[in-house]
Amino acid sequence: MPTGSGHFSSPPSALIFDSGVGAISIAREIRRQIPGLTLHFGVDNGFYPYGDKPEEVLRPRIVQVATAMMAASQADMLVVGCNTASTLALPELRDTLEHPVVGVVPAIKPAAAETRSGTIALVATEGTVSRGYTRDLIAQFANGQRVINVPAPELVQLAEAKLRGETITAGQLAPVLHRIFDTAGGDKVDIAVLACTHFPLLREELDRFAPRSIRWLDSGPAIARRVRWWLDELKLELPDTPAASQLLMSAEDPDNRIALAFAEFSPQCHALTDAAG
Ligand code: DGL
Repeated sequence: MPTGSGHFSSPPSALIFDSGVGAISIAREIRRQIPGLTLHFGVDNGFYPYGDKPEEVLRPRIVQVATAMMAASQADMLVVGCNTASTLALPELRDTLEHPVVGVVPAIKPAAAETRSGTIALVATEGTVSRGYTRDLIAQFANGQRVINVPAPELVQLAEAKLRGETITAGQLAPVLHRIFDTAGGDKVDIAVLACTHFPLLREELDRFAPRSIRWLDSGPAIARRVRWWLDELKLELPDTPAASQLLMSAEDPDNRIALAFAEFSPQCHALTDAAG
């Protein structure tokens, strides 16, 4: 649990944790809303991708690596910038860490409140789609609405490819778009929830190649608001300019692929290869 502002390092910083480049979609939104906050990145590239891994293996791994990266970065809060991790390990992370933990939650509640057709698509990793946590969110907030589950693991790879500089084509997105629009009820979808932090990185392409215009909704803005709330709660004052970002990885990055993807944040890179014990 949080212990108060005296405990924290200075200047205020948050560690955004993900298996890969999904942290970037969250970081862009936090930077937009809170420009003075120093952002560090914890990337578990040694266990990427998370989406298809069994829960009993993934849960302890996430807790161990995120805890090691929090210690190494000395950040004031952990932002779990990964739906697959959040929907699985938030309680354990909160029990283990003494700092605030902000978790990404699939944007089912706002989507259910804002849909006009009563049909939304939930686009996520296989893990997030099948999670009890996600089913509970649907039961609680989208009761009476139609929710079409769209597992889309290939979007994770495509987002990583885009950030390496590759162009994403209509043909590459066609299978996912088909699963959203050409399934039973797909003709009524007016909001698609992007419930994997990698997916907003492909929003432009999804929008361009979709057969018709719909809203692509993600949780980045809500996460940034929650981070702001914690900064106020902890009375952490921000400088005008953030300090340098650190990029912590759980495995080596031999061809600099991850470092290049994060280039917009000019991070100092470190391989924390003993993070998983
Ligand atoms: N970015 C992650 C998420 O939000 C998961 C990607 C993966 O490792 O499968 O779910």
